[in-house]
Amino acid sequence: MSRPRRERLSVTGVESVGPYALLRVRRGRIEPGAPGQFFMLEAPGRVLPRPMSLCLAPPGELAFLLDPIGPGTKALARLDAGDRLHVFGPLGNGFRLDVPRPLLVGGGIGIAPLPYLAEALEHPPAVLGFRSAHHAQAAALLPCAEVVIDPTLVTDVMPVNRNVLACGPEPMLHAVRALAPDAQLAWEAPMACGYGACFGCVVEVEGELKRLCVEGPVLCSS
Ligand SMILES: Cc1cc2nc3c(=O)[nH]c(=O)nc-3n(C[C@H](O)[C@H](O)[C@H](O)COP(=O)(O)OP(=O)(O)OC[C@H]3O[C@@H](n4cnc5c(N)ncnc54)[C@H](O)[C@@H]3O)c2cc1C
Ligand code: FES
Repeated sequence: MSRPRRERLSVTGVESVGPYALLRVRRGRIEPGAPGQFFMLEAPGRVLPRPMSLCLAPPGELAFLLDPIGPGTKALARLDAGDRLHVFGPLGNGFRLDVPRPLLVGGGIGIAPLPYLAEALEHPPAVLGFRSAHHAQAAALLPCAEVVIDPTLVTDVMPVNRNVLACGPEPMLHAVRALAPDAQLAWEAPMACGYGACFGCVVEVEGELKRLCVEGPVLCSS
């Protein structure tokens, strides 16, 4: 398992992917870790860093897909090549890769960890759902995926009898779990520290309280 490090890294570029932004930084001595692990990214002008899944790990780089929904993600999406930011990670527990017949399922910005995961699993089948054709431009990051757009849902087209690894909005994760009770699901909660100290990310999962940053973000539902 890779040891987390905190380093100030240089931005190499920010590309638009539909409404999302792909932020690329030089890797420095930070390791990319396992697919589904996350990094705390300094958000310019904000006190707290923001958790982001690793989307791609090309040689010498780390890339993060951002949905600019609030002040932190908007500030990150406005960074320019040459800007520097603190990055801390890899953190948390990623997806288990030792599963036969994997199927990747992603919804909206939840597709962020899937390109790196797809690479590690040698490009298994994937189903991605988006709320509009504009958002679906992000499917270019997973070229072989089947793509559906609202009102069609990923669960409408999800094949059965596969080991599902999923990331997306909470209602999607619940719907996926109803069809695939053994699925590995990547959950989200607001996070302040990312390493178990603040208890800010505690969520109740099946009656148990869990610090998602250290026990997740990927949890097996059974
Ligand atoms: C492990 C993990 C991995 C993540 N990976 C990505 C990623 O790859 N790309 C990406 O764009 N986002 C990702 N996120 C979500 C991202 O961290 C938050 O959306 C971000 O903190 C928002 O910051 P902001 O300042 O832009 O908006 P804020 O003002 O902080 O938030 C905007 C709105 O979103 C709500 N919110 C904020 N964070 C969360 C959260 N984690 N879960 C649910 N609601 C929240 C707030 O309550 C508010 O209503 C991830 C979150 C976690 C926990
Ligand atoms: S984010 Fe601080 S304990 Fe999880």
